[in-house]
Amino acid sequence: MTSTAMRVIRDEHQAVAAVLRSLKMLVKRSHQNGVMPPFDVLRAMIFYVDEFPERLHHTKETELLFPRVRARRPELGPVIDKLDADHGHGEAAIRELEHLMLAFEVIGESRREAFENALDRYVEAYLTHMTLEDTQIIPAARESLTPEDWAELDAAFAANRDPLTGHKPDAQYARLFEQIVHHTPAPFGLGG
Ligand SMILES: [Fe+2]
Ligand SMILES: [Fe+2]
Repeated sequence: MTSTAMRVIRDEHQAVAAVLRSLKMLVKRSHQNGVMPPFDVLRAMIFYVDEFPERLHHTKETELLFPRVRARRPELGPVIDKLDADHGHGEAAIRELEHLMLAFEVIGESRREAFENALDRYVEAYLTHMTLEDTQIIPAARESLTPEDWAELDAAFAANRDPLTGHKPDAQYARLFEQIVHHTPAPFGLGG
């Protein structure tokens, strides 16, 4: 069964993966060219990850999707424990990354390596997390959830409206997304 909730989750995973890869690409390019990265764009991208996936996507997975899958597929308990732990650690992880970026911006080159290493770890952990959801949780949900489950999940996830998944951003976010799409490759953005 393909539901609105599953489509929203898939689209949001693809959007955040595109932003994370763009972040890495911008930092790598600045390293190769021996210049500072465009910190305004980096800040916008990290803010996006914090504001949309972190607060909307993860919370709905943990509160609405995972308990239903856990109830019907108890053997997935350890996987769900790991994913919930990632969600629980998400805010601290992004604060740490922000701090290291700020250090690089205000102190300079001596703080580049620490930021680059933290970014690599952050992106890799995030991509691994989403792969685990895509390969273990989504198929199990498709097979085992009931129409009542789907009705609730669809209503909750349809409300996310992440602008990187095709929704018109609220006016307050318009400038943020303009900045991100110019530096994120198609199909999510306009960058090369
Ligand atoms: Fe998640
Ligand atoms: Fe997810």
